[in-house]
Amino acid sequence: MKIYTSEYDRIGKRSPMIYGQFMEHFHRQIYGGIYDPENRLSDEDGFRKDVLKALRDIHVPIIRWPGGCFVSSYHWKDAVGKERKPFFDKAWRVEEPNTFGTDEYIKLCRKIGCEPYICTNAGTGTAEEMSDWVEYCNLETEGYYAKRRIENGYPRPHQVKYWSIGNENYGSWEIGAKSKEEWGRLVTEAAKMMKHVDPTIELTAAALTDLDWNINLLKHSAPFLSWISIHQYWDRIHETNTPAAYEAALGFTGHTEDSIRKVKGLLMAMGLEKKIKIAFDEWNMKEWYHPKVHTIEQGVTREEYLYPRDANDDNSLYTMADAIFTACFLNAVNRNCDIVGMAAFAPAVNTRGCIFTWEEGIVLRSTYQVFYLYTNYMGDIVRNAKYQDMETICVTSSDGVEEKVDVVDVCVTEFSDRPGLAVALVNKLETEYTAVQLDFEAEGEMTGYYICGESASSYNDIGRMQVTVQQERLGTFHRGMEVCLRPHSVEIIQIGCRK
Ligand code: AHR
Repeated sequence: MKIYTSEYDRIGKRSPMIYGQFMEHFHRQIYGGIYDPENRLSDEDGFRKDVLKALRDIHVPIIRWPGGCFVSSYHWKDAVGKERKPFFDKAWRVEEPNTFGTDEYIKLCRKIGCEPYICTNAGTGTAEEMSDWVEYCNLETEGYYAKRRIENGYPRPHQVKYWSIGNENYGSWEIGAKSKEEWGRLVTEAAKMMKHVDPTIELTAAALTDLDWNINLLKHSAPFLSWISIHQYWDRIHETNTPAAYEAALGFTGHTEDSIRKVKGLLMAMGLEKKIKIAFDEWNMKEWYHPKVHTIEQGVTREEYLYPRDANDDNSLYTMADAIFTACFLNAVNRNCDIVGMAAFAPAVNTRGCIFTWEEGIVLRSTYQVFYLYTNYMGDIVRNAKYQDMETICVTSSDGVEEKVDVVDVCVTEFSDRPGLAVALVNKLETEYTAVQLDFEAEGEMTGYYICGESASSYNDIGRMQVTVQQERLGTFHRGMEVCLRPHSVEIIQIGCRK
C-alpha cells in the first residue's frame, strides 16, 4: 500500500490533552495504587514514587478524578481537612475512607505536572455542592469554603480550570440517573452557579452519542459549555472478563471514530463545533470487570461482587491486542483534532490501567508503551494522510459478526517547534509483515521507535518484559521508499527530526 500527504493536508494542531488519564476510587486505583502511604516506595505524602515517575515519563497532561460511577454519590466536603468521614460507596459497595480527597488529588497533579480535571457529583449532589467545590478550589479568600482550604494548609487557590458536571447520568446503572429533560435543567443550573463562582473555568457535561440526550443538553446548556463528554469501552466484558481474541479485537479498531463522527455531526448541525469540543474522557478497549454490581441483580456475597475485581489485574490480559487498539484510538483522536480536544484513558493505574502496581514495584503494560511512543515521538501538527491500495481483512467479532478492517492504521504529524515528520503506523496483521510505501516530500535520517513483542499475545508482568519500546535506524529517507512493518506492531517513524 502507499501513503501520501503534503503540507497542504494539515488538519491542525492537536491538543496535548488527548493523552490524558483517568483515576477513579475503584479497587486498587487510588488506595494501594498511586496512593499507598504505608509502602516503602512512597514519598512523604504517600504517593508511589515509581508510579509518579512512570506518569511523568508519558507526559500526562491532565487527570480526570474522582469518578466514574463513584462520583455520583460522593460528597467532597467529607474528604478535606482533619476530620475525614468514611462512607459506604453505593456505586462500588465498599467503604471509602476519604483519606484521599481534593487536596491530595491536587498534590498528585502538581507532582506529575498535569492539569487537574474534577468530575462533580450530579447524581445525589446539588448545583450548590458543585459550586462550593469550585469555591474551595479557586477562590482566593472569599467565602466559607475558600477559607476552609486556607485553614487546611493551602493558602493559594488550587486553580482547577476543567470541571465536568456529572458522569454517565444517562445510564440506568448510575446513582441518581436523570432523564434527558432533567439533565438539561440540572446542567444549566449547576453551570450557572459554578461559573458565578469562577467564570474562567471550562465546563463539560456527561453525554453520549444519543441524539435526543445531546440535543436536549445542548439546547439548554450550550452557552455554558466548552466541552461535551463521551465515554466508550468496546469489549463489553464487565460481567464476564472474557476478552475478545486478537482477531475479534481488531474489529474494534474500525469503530473508534464512529462516536466522534456522530457527536461532531450534531455539533455542526447546531452550529457549535467552534465553541464546544469533545472530551473523550473515559476510554479503553476493555470494560472493567465488576460483575453483579451494575445491575438490579446485585451479588450478595463478596465472592460474587467484590473479590472478582482482582481479576482485572491479571497482567497477562494486556497484550499487543490492547496496544494495537490503543494506538488506533490515539491515531483517531489525532486525526480528529479539530473536534476532540481531550481524552482520558480509563484508568491510569491498576484495573485495566496502563500501569500495574505491586508491593515492590510496577509493571508497565503494553498500553503504557503505546503512550510512551506517542507522547515522546509524535509531532503536534496533524496531517491528513491518503492511501492507495489499502489492504483489508475480514474479522469475526466476539458475537459472530463479520466485518472488514483496514490492515494498517496511519497518522502523520509534523512538529511546530522543529523540522521533520513523525508517522505512526500500526500493522494489525497477526503474523505477517506489511510493506508501506511512503510517498511524500521529506528529507533526512529516519529512526523507527516500535513495539511488537514476540507474538500478538506478548505481555508484561512482574519479571517479564515482553513488550518494550525498541529503536532502529532506517537510513536516509527518499520519496517513495518502502518500509516493512512487523506483524502486530505499532511503530513511529521519525524523518529528519532534530531536537
Ligand atoms: O466500569 C467503570 C465505569 O465505567 C466507570 O466508573 C464509569 O464511568 C463507566 O461506566
